[in-house]
Formats: sequence, structure tokens, C-alpha cells
Amino acid sequence: MEVTCRVRRYNPTTDEKPYYATYTVEVESTDRVLDVLNEIKWHHDGTLTYRRSCAHGVCGSDAMRINGRNRLACKTLVKEVGDRITVEPMMGFEVVRDLVVDLDSFFEKYKSVKPYLINDDPPPAGERLQSPEERELYDDTTKCILCGACTTACPSFWGNREFVGPAALVNAHRFIFDSRDKGLDQRVGAVGSREGVWRCRTIFNCTDACPRGIKVTKAMEDVKRKLLYD
Ligand code: SF4
Ligand code: FES
Repeated sequence: MEVTCRVRRYNPTTDEKPYYATYTVEVESTDRVLDVLNEIKWHHDGTLTYRRSCAHGVCGSDAMRINGRNRLACKTLVKEVGDRITVEPMMGFEVVRDLVVDLDSFFEKYKSVKPYLINDDPPPAGERLQSPEERELYDDTTKCILCGACTTACPSFWGNREFVGPAALVNAHRFIFDSRDKGLDQRVGAVGSREGVWRCRTIFNCTDACPRGIKVTKAMEDVKRKLLYD
């Protein structure tokens, strides 16, 4: 089938401002939007710039706005979005070039919540055991691939770029609710601060945007209750 793809292009070193370039390509309806971009780059315009790696929804590198919604290009089929596709970079971050945004501050915020197990107790002879019920508490948030779709869909983040954002809070949840972890006191500075979880206004854009189906807003509500009542 023939697909018309509008891509928001911008090279800060040569372009005065962003513009839309339109490409018409032949693809299968069962191809992904990533295949459309690859077809453009490999056969029409080699200067088109975007991130991708695994092409299977695992690495999180090709999150972008597709017809106005944050999605992974490698998990979005052409037949889901139709033969007129508009592709734009995620909102809220500086564009490095075309669909590539600067994620340095995103990963700084991720690091600020200390997304790793904190437990200074002497390790046991075997494993640190955990019941299935305890594991279940954070099962959903283990699925995050750090694509950034949730944070860049969040109006609270658009309004205040200091907000640590849903993605970092999902990863804080993953450890805060791990029965083996004892690091809440070390995380509360980032998670419970003025720019932490309280900036969430339960708008649910993050949950809607997550390509892994994580209940992002619920995770942030879990964290709020933990800070208030534990
Ligand atoms: S919670 Fe979902 S949308 Fe947010 S970074 Fe993780 S995988 Fe991406
Ligand atoms: S290229 Fe890895 S998630 Fe899409």
C-alpha cells in the first residue's frame, strides 16, 4: 500500500526552524511505522535521523509522536494508524535532530530516585527470599523500558520541567515496593520533594501512553500513599 508520511524535521545547525517533510512510500499494511521510517531513510532520504535499536519493543529507543500520540515506532503497525502518518519528536525535550531528543535530563532524573536495590544488611548465605505476594506488589513496574513516552505525555511535566516525571517514579516504585529494599529514606529527597510525586495531578496521559501497559498513574498513587501512611 502507498503511505504518505509527514515527518517533523529539524537540524539546529542548519535550519532556522522546524518544518515538515512529506514522503510517499510503498509498504505493507502489516509493516510497522519503524519500517516506514527505514524505507524513507534507506531509499529516499538518508539524512532522516531517528533512534532505534531492537525493533521489537524492548530497548525503548524509538518512542515518538505518531499521529499525535506517543508510541513506539516498532510496535505501531501501519494498519493501526492509516495511510497518512505524521511523525514528530516527543514533546518537552530539546530536539537534537529530527526525531532525536536530548534525554540527558530524563536519565538524570531517573538516577535521582536511586533505581537499584539498597540494603546494607549482611547478605544471607543463600538468596534474599521473597514471597510471590511480595513480588506481585511491584511486578507491573518491572516492565519499564525507559522509553520516555509517559513523561513526555504529561502536562505537569510540560508545565514544569523540574518535575521528576512518571518514568522516574515508576522506577522508584519498583524498588520502594520491593520487600528486600531498605532505601526509602534515601529516595525520599527526590521522590517526596516539591518536584517529586506530588506534581502528579492524576491526568492519566502517562498510563495511556505507556507501550508496556504499565499502570503508571496507579504506581504514582501507590508511592504517594506510601509516603503519607508508612
Ligand atoms: S513507564 Fe511505560 S511509558 Fe514510561 S518510560 Fe516506562 S515503559 Fe516508557
Ligand atoms: S527499537 Fe527498541 S523499542 Fe523500538
